[in-house]
Amino acid sequence: MQSDYGYFEEAQLGKPYDLKLLKRLYPFTRPYRLLLFGSIGLVLLITALDLALPYVTKIAIDRYIVPQTASEMLTIDAGVKSEERVIRTDLNDPQQQTLVNKYRKLFTVEGTTALIPYQALSKLKKSDLALLRKDDVAGVTFISAVFVILVIINFMLNFVQKMIMEYTGHMIMHDLRIRLFGHIQNLATAFFTRNPVGRLVTRTTNDVQNMHELFTSIISMIFKDLFLLCGIAVVMLVLNWKLALVSFTVLPLVLYASINFSRRARGIFRELRVKIAEINIRFSETIGGIRVVQLFRQEMNNYRMFKRLNHENYLAGMKQIHVLAIFMPLIEILAAVAVALVIWYGGGRVITGAMSLGALVAFISYIRMFFRPIRDLAEKYNILQNAMASAERIFLIFDSQDKLSWPDAQKGKDLSGLQQIKVVRFENVYFSYVGDENVLKNITFNINTGETVAVVGPTGAGKTSLINLIPRFYDPSAGRVLINNRDIRELDASVFRSKIALVMQDPFLFSGTIRQNIFQGNHNLTKAEEQFIIEASSCQPLIDRLASGLDTALTEGGSSLSSGERQLISIARAFARNPQLILFDEATSYIDSPTELRIQQALEKLMKNRTSLVVAHRLSTIRNADRILVMNRGRIIETGKHVELMKQKGFYYRLHQLQNGNQMTNVD
Ligand code: CTP
Ligand code: MG
Repeated sequence: MQSDYGYFEEAQLGKPYDLKLLKRLYPFTRPYRLLLFGSIGLVLLITALDLALPYVTKIAIDRYIVPQTASEMLTIDAGVKSEERVIRTDLNDPQQQTLVNKYRKLFTVEGTTALIPYQALSKLKKSDLALLRKDDVAGVTFISAVFVILVIINFMLNFVQKMIMEYTGHMIMHDLRIRLFGHIQNLATAFFTRNPVGRLVTRTTNDVQNMHELFTSIISMIFKDLFLLCGIAVVMLVLNWKLALVSFTVLPLVLYASINFSRRARGIFRELRVKIAEINIRFSETIGGIRVVQLFRQEMNNYRMFKRLNHENYLAGMKQIHVLAIFMPLIEILAAVAVALVIWYGGGRVITGAMSLGALVAFISYIRMFFRPIRDLAEKYNILQNAMASAERIFLIFDSQDKLSWPDAQKGKDLSGLQQIKVVRFENVYFSYVGDENVLKNITFNINTGETVAVVGPTGAGKTSLINLIPRFYDPSAGRVLINNRDIRELDASVFRSKIALVMQDPFLFSGTIRQNIFQGNHNLTKAEEQFIIEASSCQPLIDRLASGLDTALTEGGSSLSSGERQLISIARAFARNPQLILFDEATSYIDSPTELRIQQALEKLMKNRTSLVVAHRLSTIRNADRILVMNRGRIIETGKHVELMKQKGFYYRLHQLQNGNQMTNVD
């Protein structure tokens, strides 16, 4: 299973390109299939436009800029050599007619057309030349306009495509995050003792964000690059297959470099991520425990450790740069070699007239285009790898087995048997947090309706653990916990939890107002009822003291209140639930006598006519309990009423003596 540190978890991740991962991601894209396909269709169009641009250039050059060779038919009749480049004029056009007349000797007239060899053009005046070639000039203008229009269309398509992709990516991310949040929230408490908060926060933020990048940039880039590479190859082969094959001779090298690169990059990118995770963990641990760090003067040690990690991170970063710094220029060089090959071979063919100049120029553009996605491969590779690692980590959480098994089949049917919690029973319960180190051993006892059962024992005896089993925060490793003689694993937890109030040892309050914390969104209470709860729980003096009273906002975790005050508020919270069963875990922290008295009074009112299980540290609290369970090292070693236990002169008696000796205030 996962260990406790993010970087170990990171280090043991499997192959990031697992096809299984992609398969598992697919369902998340399902609702957006149409959008995805639409966007891929747009990518296809965009690629076609990209491919069209060099071809348009070729047309401009071949048709208008460089004069064409005279066609067979014309040359025979007009006596011009067929390979000679000529400019044609239209004698029906009066302006051209005038020109032809002006340079009569240079032209060969043929019907309504007059030909002038390319070489003779230099004998014409510049202004006359422009007039003579006005069709070509118009052609070039037209082609430029087409070029610009294509670019604008391309721009708009790109915009639409990007918007669709971003929208889809955000929606998928949104769904994923909600699913993850829902899943995490329903996991068993045991999961949270194993997974630090920081890690879970990273899962729902960074990792989900990485998935977003996968869907937006990577998917469209992959398709775009694929189409582009195939498209360019096809166009080049059609334009001139021999030249295409010549320029493809560098491809084996490109392939070799890319494969080599990805093999090395994989390990290095991963190492870098592991180092960053380590740094994060060290940092958050230091901040979280800053008081301990400062108190024990660990700053220097910590500093050195951090420095070492930071250095390792730097080394990993340099390795990455090293690989990138070789790969990218290498691809540039190979691209340049390919261009050189095209100029050498293609140039020769243009000279001999076997290929047009336009085709050569287009070829050079295509070659450049061809290498661009390959050069950016490294960057995409990094994003892809990050995304895959994130996906894997997210699925690790989805796969987490820490879910308590809920009785789906019976869900909702068990309300009848649970209307009233009559008896809670522990039956030979064993429990461990990790492995088989049992912190509860063979625990058996009953709590009947209306009874107050107390648990006492030294610290670490397992009192809190015992309480945690009743709301089913954890499941026992052996034995059973029963409510109304039914194993709670067979019951709908949401039903019996709603009838239980738990006042924790270190009560957790949410950020929000005191009112929200006490009433937890229960709007059914009247003002009088609210007031009654506040008074019964002895919260009134506390609330009166605060400037905004009940509407005072608390900081996260309620850290702006003392632990005694937090305990009072959580008693009020318990009251507001009107529970049938009360689980009270007395605070260990020192609380001044007046507050303690208030807590005790509140507790007495809360427990009146209710069933309760109370963990007490101050033994005076539980004098009147119906039964006292004395715990030591996970076992119940004595049971009985206060008077009986005192008579036994056993463990309880000694505890009592000890406490009375130390805390004179508690002696009645
Ligand atoms: N424990 C553990 N993992 C946890 C909580 C507790 O391994 N997440 C262990 C503790 O180390 C202890 C034992 O379980 O040895 C019992 O803990 P607990 O039930 O919390 O002891 P309490 O009796 O409640 O101790 P205290 O009086 O200090 O509250
Ligand atoms: Mg405890």
